[in-house]
Amino acid sequence: MASSLWQRFPTINAQLQDLIAYLPTLIKSGNPAIDNRMKNLISSGGKLLRPGFFYMFAQLGQAADPKRLRSAAAAIELLHTATLIHDDVLDNADQRHGQPALQIVTGNRTAIYAGDFLFTSYFTEILKAAETREQIQTANDIMRTILVGELDQLALNFHTDATIRAYLNEIEGKTARLFSFAAGMGVALSHGDKATQTAAESIGLSLGMAYQIRDDILDIIADPTAASKPVRHDLRQGVYTLPLLLASRKEPDWFESALAHPTNLTDQDVITINNKIIALDGPQEAEQQVQTYTSQALKLSQSLPAPIGNQLQHLLTTLLTRKS
Ligand code: IPE
Ligand code: MG
Ligand code: MG
Repeated sequence: MASSLWQRFPTINAQLQDLIAYLPTLIKSGNPAIDNRMKNLISSGGKLLRPGFFYMFAQLGQAADPKRLRSAAAAIELLHTATLIHDDVLDNADQRHGQPALQIVTGNRTAIYAGDFLFTSYFTEILKAAETREQIQTANDIMRTILVGELDQLALNFHTDATIRAYLNEIEGKTARLFSFAAGMGVALSHGDKATQTAAESIGLSLGMAYQIRDDILDIIADPTAASKPVRHDLRQGVYTLPLLLASRKEPDWFESALAHPTNLTDQDVITINNKIIALDGPQEAEQQVQTYTSQALKLSQSLPAPIGNQLQHLLTTLLTRKS
């Protein structure tokens, strides 16, 4: 079943049901055990946020070829899944979608190739979906942008003095650009006009920024028993996100000393630092940035036909009030 997020939009919901049936047919590496693990990850209750978002914007044009749309939606989900497999290796994360992360089951070496396999599946579907060489180039560029975003994050690891700008650039690359690409491709493949495509891309970017900042806040405040992926994890991994960066500007000396030996934090250290971030209003102030990006997305949607504004409003409200 498609995620409950989309149930109130019957057309998108039906397209996602079709996508759910289609995706597993694309995963044929010749190794049934690995295929099953990849299929499992793809159908293990992700929100299908990015392909759903793509279909939302594909309503804006005139004539769209349903097969091309489905391949583009599949490509977007495949790319996302591949980056998650690699991300869980990088982040040393043990859980994804409430199940053991792929590398926990297969080991890192197999997980890296499984991710790579899905990257090639991404391009196979892009080649079926694209109508122009420019779209193929954009698909290539977006994958590169995500990888560079993840590399930027690694470069910033353990830097309490990272600038907010550097953090925002990094999350734009690793997360927001894919939302922007999904929205833009939706308009392009349904032959909407250029101005609509530009607006869609900006909406995607703002939504993606809001989504990732909210994700980073949840790592700090979510109830661990309700989460389907690790929480209180960023700190241990040296991923210093917006709530921490905002808090540490208020008491830099405290954070410098608390994070003097960041790879040896005890459980108690993590709780203490986390509580300090909360006491200094890090999550609350980060939330203001979420609201700013959300308002930007909604404002931009006013220039688009009615269903988009309503759907976006629902999507944003659901995503941004989620608890895990
Ligand atoms: C994931 O970033 C971004 C990509 C996969 C490119 P995070 O590391 O913040 O995401 P979660 O918390 O593991 O889902
Ligand atoms: Mg991660
Ligand atoms: Mg990560």
